[in-house]
Amino acid sequence: MYSGKAKDVTLLEDNNVRITFRDSISAFDGVKKEELNEKGRINCKTSVILFELLNRYGFATHYLSQLNDIEMICKNVEIKPVEVVCRNVTAGSFCKRYGVDNGIEFETPIIEFFLKDDDLHDPLVAKEIAIQLGWITKAESTLMESTTRAVNQVLSAIFERISLKLVDFKLEFGSTDEGVLIIADEISADTMRLWEIDTGEIKDKDRYRKDLGGVIDHYKDVLQRLEEIESYPEISIKSTAEITIELKKSVLDPAGEVTLRSLKRKGYQGVEEVRLGKSAKISFSLTPSPNLQEIIKEISDSILSNPLIENYTFDFSSGE
Ligand code: TMP
Ligand code: ASP
Repeated sequence: MYSGKAKDVTLLEDNNVRITFRDSISAFDGVKKEELNEKGRINCKTSVILFELLNRYGFATHYLSQLNDIEMICKNVEIKPVEVVCRNVTAGSFCKRYGVDNGIEFETPIIEFFLKDDDLHDPLVAKEIAIQLGWITKAESTLMESTTRAVNQVLSAIFERISLKLVDFKLEFGSTDEGVLIIADEISADTMRLWEIDTGEIKDKDRYRKDLGGVIDHYKDVLQRLEEIESYPEISIKSTAEITIELKKSVLDPAGEVTLRSLKRKGYQGVEEVRLGKSAKISFSLTPSPNLQEIIKEISDSILSNPLIENYTFDFSSGE
Protein backbone atom coordinates (compact mmCIF):
# COMPACT_ATOMS: atom_id res chain seq x y z
CA MET A 1 0.00 0.00 0.00
CA TYR A 2 2.77 2.42 0.96
CA SER A 3 6.50 2.16 1.60
CA GLY A 4 8.16 5.02 3.48
CA LYS A 5 11.74 5.70 4.55
CA ALA A 6 11.61 3.42 7.59
CA LYS A 7 8.21 1.68 7.54
CA ASP A 8 5.82 -0.16 5.22
CA VAL A 9 2.06 0.11 5.51
CA THR A 10 -0.21 -2.70 4.30
CA LEU A 11 -4.00 -2.43 4.11
CA LEU A 12 -5.77 -5.43 5.67
CA GLU A 13 -9.13 -6.93 4.76
CA ASP A 14 -10.84 -5.45 7.81
CA ASN A 15 -9.70 -1.95 6.72
CA ASN A 16 -7.08 -1.75 9.48
CA VAL A 17 -3.41 -1.48 8.47
CA ARG A 18 -0.28 -3.43 9.35
CA ILE A 19 2.73 -1.18 9.91
CA THR A 20 6.09 -2.90 9.46
CA PHE A 21 9.16 -1.27 11.01
CA ARG A 22 12.23 -1.88 8.85
CA ASP A 23 15.87 -1.63 9.99
CA SER A 24 16.32 1.49 7.80
CA ILE A 25 17.39 4.79 9.28
CA SER A 26 17.61 8.05 7.33
CA ALA A 27 18.25 11.72 7.90
CA PHE A 28 18.28 14.99 5.98
CA ASP A 29 15.19 14.05 3.98
CA GLY A 30 16.53 10.64 3.07
CA VAL A 31 19.90 11.87 1.73
CA LYS A 32 21.83 9.99 4.43
CA LYS A 33 20.63 6.43 4.97
CA GLU A 34 21.70 3.11 6.41
CA GLU A 35 20.45 -0.24 7.66
CA LEU A 36 20.93 -0.81 11.39
CA ASN A 37 20.39 -4.28 12.80
CA GLU A 38 17.51 -4.43 15.33
CA LYS A 39 16.35 -0.88 14.66
CA GLY A 40 12.94 -2.04 13.38
CA ARG A 41 12.27 -4.15 16.45
CA ILE A 42 13.38 -1.41 18.87
CA ASN A 43 11.35 1.37 17.24
CA CYS A 44 8.32 -0.88 16.96
CA LYS A 45 8.42 -1.76 20.67
CA THR A 46 9.10 1.85 21.71
CA SER A 47 6.12 3.02 19.63
CA VAL A 48 3.91 0.26 21.04
CA ILE A 49 4.75 1.26 24.63
CA LEU A 50 4.22 4.97 23.98
CA PHE A 51 0.99 4.53 21.99
CA GLU A 52 -0.42 2.20 24.66
CA LEU A 53 0.45 4.86 27.19
CA LEU A 54 -1.26 7.62 25.18
CA ASN A 55 -4.35 5.45 24.70
CA ARG A 56 -4.41 4.86 28.45
CA TYR A 57 -4.25 8.62 29.15
CA GLY A 58 -7.30 9.09 26.90
CA PHE A 59 -5.74 10.22 23.61
CA ALA A 60 -7.29 9.13 20.31
CA THR A 61 -4.53 7.30 18.40
CA HIS A 62 -4.39 4.91 15.44
CA TYR A 63 -2.72 2.16 17.50
CA LEU A 64 -4.69 -1.06 18.09
CA SER A 65 -2.22 -3.86 18.94
CA GLN A 66 1.27 -5.26 18.43
CA LEU A 67 1.32 -8.11 15.90
CA ASN A 68 4.93 -9.32 16.31
CA ASP A 69 8.42 -7.93 16.99
CA ILE A 70 8.39 -5.50 14.08
CA GLU A 71 4.72 -4.95 13.28
CA MET A 72 1.72 -3.23 14.78
CA ILE A 73 -1.94 -3.15 13.77
CA CYS A 74 -3.41 0.31 13.46
CA LYS A 75 -6.54 2.04 12.22
CA ASN A 76 -6.37 3.09 8.60
CA VAL A 77 -6.10 6.86 8.32
CA GLU A 78 -5.35 9.43 5.69
CA ILE A 79 -2.22 11.14 6.97
CA LYS A 80 -2.39 14.94 7.10
CA PRO A 81 0.30 16.69 5.00
CA VAL A 82 1.24 18.80 8.02
CA GLU A 83 3.19 17.50 11.04
CA VAL A 84 3.36 19.11 14.47
CA VAL A 85 6.59 19.70 16.41
CA CYS A 86 6.59 20.56 20.11
CA ARG A 87 9.74 22.03 21.68
CA ASN A 88 10.59 22.33 25.37
CA VAL A 89 14.21 23.27 24.74
CA THR A 90 15.89 24.86 21.71
CA ALA A 91 17.67 22.39 19.39
CA GLY A 92 17.96 21.29 15.77
CA SER A 93 16.30 23.30 13.01
CA PHE A 94 15.01 25.87 15.52
CA CYS A 95 18.57 26.95 16.40
CA LYS A 96 19.54 27.11 12.71
CA ARG A 97 16.45 29.07 11.71
CA TYR A 98 16.69 31.74 14.41
CA GLY A 99 20.46 31.69 15.13
CA VAL A 100 19.99 30.86 18.80
CA ASP A 101 21.95 28.60 21.16
CA ASN A 102 21.12 24.96 21.70
CA GLY A 103 19.63 24.07 25.10
CA ILE A 104 17.56 27.13 26.07
CA GLU A 105 14.47 26.01 27.98
CA PHE A 106 11.17 27.61 26.87
CA GLU A 107 8.85 29.00 29.53
CA THR A 108 5.89 27.64 27.59
CA PRO A 109 6.46 24.83 25.05
CA ILE A 110 6.56 25.99 21.43
CA ILE A 111 4.30 24.42 18.81
CA GLU A 112 5.29 24.54 15.12
CA PHE A 113 3.64 23.13 12.01
CA PHE A 114 5.75 21.75 9.14
CA LEU A 115 4.70 20.74 5.64
CA LYS A 116 5.63 17.10 4.99
CA ASP A 117 7.50 17.38 1.72
CA ASP A 118 11.05 16.02 1.39
CA ASP A 119 11.65 17.85 -1.93
CA LEU A 120 10.95 21.15 -0.16
CA HIS A 121 12.87 19.97 2.97
CA ASP A 122 9.75 20.03 5.19
CA PRO A 123 9.36 23.82 5.46
CA LEU A 124 7.91 25.52 8.52
CA VAL A 125 4.34 26.58 7.74
CA ALA A 126 2.12 29.16 9.46
CA LYS A 127 -1.13 27.71 10.73
CA GLU A 128 -3.13 30.25 8.73
CA ILE A 129 -1.40 29.16 5.51
CA ALA A 130 -2.03 25.46 6.20
CA ILE A 131 -5.72 26.26 6.75
CA GLN A 132 -6.14 28.55 3.74
CA LEU A 133 -4.39 26.11 1.42
CA GLY A 134 -6.78 23.40 2.63
CA TRP A 135 -4.15 21.11 4.18
CA ILE A 136 -6.00 21.14 7.51
CA THR A 137 -9.20 22.76 8.77
CA LYS A 138 -9.31 25.34 11.56
CA ALA A 139 -10.90 22.78 13.90
CA GLU A 140 -8.16 20.26 13.03
CA SER A 141 -5.36 22.76 13.67
CA THR A 142 -6.85 23.57 17.08
CA LEU A 143 -7.16 19.91 17.97
CA MET A 144 -3.63 19.14 16.66
CA GLU A 145 -2.10 21.90 18.78
CA SER A 146 -4.01 21.15 22.00
CA THR A 147 -3.43 17.40 21.64
CA THR A 148 0.30 17.90 21.05
CA ARG A 149 0.58 20.11 24.15
CA ALA A 150 -1.20 17.49 26.26
CA VAL A 151 0.97 14.68 24.79
CA ASN A 152 3.99 16.78 25.76
CA GLN A 153 2.74 16.93 29.34
CA VAL A 154 2.43 13.12 29.47
CA LEU A 155 5.63 12.21 27.63
CA SER A 156 7.75 14.77 29.52
CA ALA A 157 6.60 13.30 32.84
CA ILE A 158 7.22 9.72 31.68
CA PHE A 159 10.72 10.45 30.40
CA GLU A 160 11.57 12.43 33.51
CA ARG A 161 10.83 9.26 35.51
CA ILE A 162 13.59 7.50 33.59
CA SER A 163 16.04 10.42 33.91
CA LEU A 164 15.57 11.70 30.36
CA LYS A 165 14.68 15.20 29.23
CA LEU A 166 12.16 15.37 26.39
CA VAL A 167 13.71 18.19 24.36
CA ASP A 168 11.30 18.08 21.41
CA PHE A 169 9.18 15.67 19.39
CA LYS A 170 7.10 15.38 16.25
CA LEU A 171 3.56 14.06 15.93
CA GLU A 172 1.63 13.10 12.82
CA PHE A 173 -2.13 13.07 12.59
CA GLY A 174 -4.52 11.32 10.24
CA SER A 175 -8.24 11.20 9.70
CA THR A 176 -10.27 8.00 9.77
CA ASP A 177 -12.95 7.09 7.22
CA GLU A 178 -15.42 8.80 9.55
CA GLY A 179 -13.35 12.01 9.43
CA VAL A 180 -12.09 11.72 13.01
CA LEU A 181 -8.61 13.17 13.58
CA ILE A 182 -6.28 10.87 15.55
CA ILE A 183 -2.55 10.62 16.35
CA ALA A 184 -0.78 8.37 13.83
CA ASP A 185 2.61 7.19 12.49
CA GLU A 186 5.29 6.28 15.08
CA ILE A 187 6.59 7.71 18.35
CA SER A 188 10.17 6.65 19.02
CA ALA A 189 13.74 7.87 19.44
CA ASP A 190 13.54 8.63 15.68
CA THR A 191 10.83 11.24 16.21
CA MET A 192 12.04 13.02 19.35
CA ARG A 193 15.10 14.43 21.08
CA LEU A 194 16.01 12.95 24.45
CA TRP A 195 18.90 14.09 26.61
CA GLU A 196 20.23 12.36 29.72
CA ILE A 197 19.15 14.73 32.52
CA ASP A 198 22.38 14.38 34.52
CA THR A 199 24.94 14.58 31.74
CA GLY A 200 23.17 16.00 28.67
CA GLU A 201 24.17 12.92 26.67
CA ILE A 202 22.19 12.55 23.43
CA LYS A 203 19.97 9.44 23.32
CA ASP A 204 18.03 9.95 20.04
CA LYS A 205 18.38 10.14 16.27
CA ASP A 206 20.80 13.07 16.55
CA ARG A 207 23.39 10.32 17.28
CA TYR A 208 22.89 9.24 13.67
CA ARG A 209 22.48 12.74 12.17
CA LYS A 210 25.69 13.92 13.86
CA ASP A 211 27.68 10.66 13.46
CA LEU A 212 28.05 10.25 17.22
CA GLY A 213 27.95 6.44 17.01
CA GLY A 214 26.18 3.96 19.29
CA VAL A 215 22.76 4.67 17.77
CA ILE A 216 21.30 1.24 18.49
CA ASP A 217 22.85 0.97 21.97
CA HIS A 218 21.25 4.24 23.04
CA TYR A 219 17.86 3.43 21.41
CA LYS A 220 17.96 0.10 23.25
CA ASP A 221 18.77 1.79 26.54
CA VAL A 222 15.80 4.18 26.15
CA LEU A 223 13.52 1.22 25.37
CA GLN A 224 14.81 -0.79 28.31
CA ARG A 225 14.18 2.08 30.71
CA LEU A 226 10.63 2.47 29.33
CA GLU A 227 10.02 -1.26 29.80
CA GLU A 228 11.15 -1.07 33.41
CA ILE A 229 8.67 1.64 34.45
CA GLU A 230 6.37 -0.01 36.97
CA SER A 231 3.75 2.64 37.60
CA TYR A 232 2.79 5.64 35.57
CA PRO A 233 2.49 9.12 37.09
CA GLU A 234 -0.83 10.79 37.87
CA ILE A 235 -1.04 13.57 35.32
CA SER A 236 -3.90 16.03 35.34
CA ILE A 237 -4.63 17.07 31.80
CA LYS A 238 -6.83 20.09 31.35
CA SER A 239 -8.72 21.10 28.22
CA THR A 240 -10.35 24.48 27.93
CA ALA A 241 -12.98 25.62 25.46
CA GLU A 242 -13.60 29.32 24.83
CA ILE A 243 -16.90 29.85 23.09
CA THR A 244 -17.99 33.18 21.57
CA ILE A 245 -21.69 33.57 20.87
CA GLU A 246 -22.97 36.29 18.54
CA LEU A 247 -26.37 37.25 17.22
CA LYS A 248 -26.82 36.33 13.56
CA LYS A 249 -26.23 39.24 11.19
CA SER A 250 -29.92 39.26 10.19
CA VAL A 251 -31.14 39.57 13.80
CA LEU A 252 -31.77 43.00 15.32
CA ASP A 253 -29.68 43.81 18.40
CA PRO A 254 -31.51 46.51 20.41
CA ALA A 255 -28.91 46.49 23.23
CA GLY A 256 -26.17 46.99 20.63
CA GLU A 257 -28.10 49.92 19.18
CA VAL A 258 -28.48 51.56 22.60
CA THR A 259 -24.70 51.23 23.09
CA LEU A 260 -24.08 52.69 19.61
CA ARG A 261 -26.26 55.74 20.37
CA SER A 262 -24.52 56.25 23.69
CA LEU A 263 -21.06 56.07 22.07
CA LYS A 264 -22.11 58.61 19.46
CA ARG A 265 -23.55 60.91 22.14
CA LYS A 266 -20.26 60.75 24.02
CA GLY A 267 -18.51 61.92 20.87
CA TYR A 268 -16.60 58.78 19.79
CA GLN A 269 -15.77 59.25 16.12
CA GLY A 270 -16.21 56.69 13.38
CA VAL A 271 -18.20 54.13 15.38
CA GLU A 272 -20.46 52.44 12.86
CA GLU A 273 -22.08 49.43 14.46
CA VAL A 274 -22.15 47.69 17.84
CA ARG A 275 -23.24 44.06 18.25
CA LEU A 276 -23.23 42.67 21.77
CA GLY A 277 -22.55 38.96 22.31
CA LYS A 278 -21.46 36.69 25.11
CA SER A 279 -18.63 34.33 25.75
CA ALA A 280 -18.11 31.23 27.87
CA LYS A 281 -14.95 29.54 29.09
CA ILE A 282 -15.38 25.90 30.09
CA SER A 283 -12.53 23.91 31.65
CA PHE A 284 -12.52 20.11 31.62
CA SER A 285 -10.25 17.71 33.48
CA LEU A 286 -10.17 15.66 30.26
CA THR A 287 -7.69 14.89 27.48
CA PRO A 288 -8.32 16.90 24.30
CA SER A 289 -9.94 14.63 21.73
CA PRO A 290 -12.31 14.69 18.75
CA ASN A 291 -14.97 13.38 21.13
CA LEU A 292 -14.50 16.30 23.52
CA GLN A 293 -14.65 18.68 20.56
CA GLU A 294 -18.04 17.16 19.65
CA ILE A 295 -19.27 17.53 23.24
CA ILE A 296 -18.33 21.22 23.21
CA LYS A 297 -20.28 21.68 19.96
CA GLU A 298 -23.26 19.94 21.54
CA ILE A 299 -23.11 22.17 24.65
CA SER A 300 -22.77 25.28 22.47
CA ASP A 301 -25.69 24.26 20.24
CA SER A 302 -28.09 23.15 22.91
CA ILE A 303 -27.30 25.16 26.02
CA LEU A 304 -25.10 28.18 25.32
CA SER A 305 -26.70 29.44 22.14
CA ASN A 306 -30.06 29.65 20.44
CA PRO A 307 -29.34 28.35 16.92
CA LEU A 308 -32.35 30.22 15.53
CA ILE A 309 -30.88 33.64 16.25
CA GLU A 310 -27.23 33.06 17.27
CA ASN A 311 -23.96 31.76 15.80
CA TYR A 312 -20.96 30.63 17.80
CA THR A 313 -17.26 30.00 17.26
CA PHE A 314 -14.97 28.20 19.65
CA ASP A 315 -11.33 27.79 20.44
CA PHE A 316 -9.93 24.83 22.25
CA SER A 317 -6.70 24.58 24.19
CA SER A 318 -4.83 22.39 26.60
CA GLY A 319 -2.27 23.31 29.20
CA GLU A 320 -1.07 22.69 32.71
P1 TMP B 1 13.94 19.72 13.86
O1 TMP B 1 14.69 20.40 14.95
O2 TMP B 1 14.82 19.09 12.84
O3 TMP B 1 12.90 20.61 13.25
O4 TMP B 1 13.16 18.50 14.54
C1 TMP B 1 12.25 18.70 15.59
C2 TMP B 1 11.77 17.34 16.10
O5 TMP B 1 11.02 16.66 15.12
C3 TMP B 1 12.90 16.40 16.48
O6 TMP B 1 12.53 15.72 17.66
C4 TMP B 1 12.98 15.42 15.34
C5 TMP B 1 11.60 15.39 14.81
N1 TMP B 1 11.56 15.21 13.35
C6 TMP B 1 10.98 14.08 12.83
O7 TMP B 1 10.52 13.21 13.56
N2 TMP B 1 10.95 13.94 11.47
C7 TMP B 1 11.45 14.86 10.63
O8 TMP B 1 11.37 14.70 9.41
C8 TMP B 1 12.03 16.05 11.19
C9 TMP B 1 12.60 17.11 10.31
C10 TMP B 1 12.07 16.17 12.55
N1 ASP C 1 13.11 11.85 8.98
C1 ASP C 1 13.77 12.66 8.00
C2 ASP C 1 14.62 11.82 7.06
O1 ASP C 1 14.58 10.63 7.08
C3 ASP C 1 14.54 13.81 8.57
C4 ASP C 1 15.28 13.64 9.85
O2 ASP C 1 14.83 12.95 10.74
O3 ASP C 1 16.35 14.26 10.00
O4 ASP C 1 15.33 12.29 6.23
